[in-house]
Formats: sequence, C-alpha cells, structure tokens
Amino acid sequence: MNELKHIAIIMDGNGRWAKKRGFSKRIKGHEEGAKRVREITIFASNYGVKFLTLYAFSTENWKRPKYEIDFLMKLMDIYLKNELKLFLENEVRFQTIGDISKLPKNLQDRIFYTKEKTSHFKGLTQVLAINYGSRDEIIRAFHKAKKSGVDLTQENMNDFLDTAGMPDVDMLIRTGGEQRLSNFLLWQSAYSELFFTKTLWPDFTVDELKQMIEKFNKIERRFGGVKNE
Ligand code: FPP
Repeated sequence: MNELKHIAIIMDGNGRWAKKRGFSKRIKGHEEGAKRVREITIFASNYGVKFLTLYAFSTENWKRPKYEIDFLMKLMDIYLKNELKLFLENEVRFQTIGDISKLPKNLQDRIFYTKEKTSHFKGLTQVLAINYGSRDEIIRAFHKAKKSGVDLTQENMNDFLDTAGMPDVDMLIRTGGEQRLSNFLLWQSAYSELFFTKTLWPDFTVDELKQMIEKFNKIERRFGGVKNE
C-alpha cells in the first residue's frame, strides 16, 4: 500500500457529456458534474485521504462564452451553499487555490464564509482550484518570496505557493480522454502517479476511483531513488 494523502482531479468532459445526452447547452454537464464532486468528496473523506484538489475553473477558462462563465460562478456559489451541511457533517475543511480576488463578490464572500466555518476540521480538506493556473501561481510565489526577502529553494518553494501546508500530489487523475496537465499543479505533481480515463467527468464513479486506487497501491514509488532490494 502506498501512502495516499493527496488526490488531484482534472474534471474534464462536462460539455461532451451534455452533447452526448442531447442537451442543447454544455452547462448541463457542469451541473451534473457538481454532483460527482459531492460523491467523490464523501468517499475520499471516508477513505482517509487528507487533500482532494479539484480543478473547477482555470485561469484560461475566462476565454469561454460569458453565459458559461456566469453559470459556473453561480453553480459554485450554489454548490458551496448546499455543501456546507455535508462539510460540517463529515468534518471536511474547505480551501481554495487560485486568485479568487477576480471572482464575483458574492462568490468570494461565500468562499470566505465556508472556509471560516470549516477551518477547524482535521480530516479531509477539499480544495477547489478556482481562477487557478500553475504558471500564475508560480509567478505569484516568486513575487511573495521577493517581497519577504526570502531566497527560493526547492525546500521552501511550497511555503509561497497557494498549496502552502499541503503535501505533494500522490495521484493526479484526468477524466475526459485527454492526456495533458493543462497548467494544473505543475510544481506539486513532479512525482505524482498519473491516471487518465476516457470516462467523462459526469459519468465518473466512486467505483472507478477505487479501481485507480488499487492500481496506485501496486505501483512502486521510488521518487528518483532505486528499487528496494
Ligand atoms: C471541463 O469540462 C470542466 C470545467 C471547465 C469545469 C469543471 C466544473 C465542474 C465539474 C462543476 C462545478 C464544480 C463545482 C465544484 C461545483 P469541459 O467543459 O471542458 O468539457 P468538454 O471538454 O467536454 O468540453
């Protein structure tokens, strides 16, 4: 068994799911995708995972049509409003990574409120990556370090990233069939085990995640070292 502290997921395929099901709008896929977030979060919490980081909105997603952006912002607001009960019942801490200062004020307020209400929990932390891009995060980290007069090293870099206090990613999953990282957690996934599935995010199940974890457990993780003799 490998230690599994941090799972990160690129939740891709919502638009294609909606099209496949005959919905005229891609946003139906996002709506359905939000339900999977809930199921996977409950599973991760019960399994004892410490961090579950989900790519909800990238720095590049602002290029999408306005109606889709507005819908996603609203969906995240509604999601957080509804999910507070689940967080409190399951003792899940809520966090975000990404520059949230660019989000609508009501969503920012909701994020601050949810973080505050759950900040004392010690089990799973659900981390939503919102207006997140690794390159943006790394540049912001450089500026923060410079401002505090710190010379960056491999050891102290994480203190300046949005993921400060979080362990590196153990499993990085991408649904939807593409095999790329799309500017997600590039520093933190240097030694992650990568899992790609053709399953579209709204079709992703806890069972498929369990199968991936079984495979993950069979991998000999060497982190650049040599095989144990
Ligand atoms: C990528 O699918 C998905 C996104 C850009 C948004 C992810 C959002 C959710 C899963 C729902 C909202 C999340 C929360 C936490 C409430 P795509 O639209 O690029 O799909 P496609 O590749 O099929 O077009």
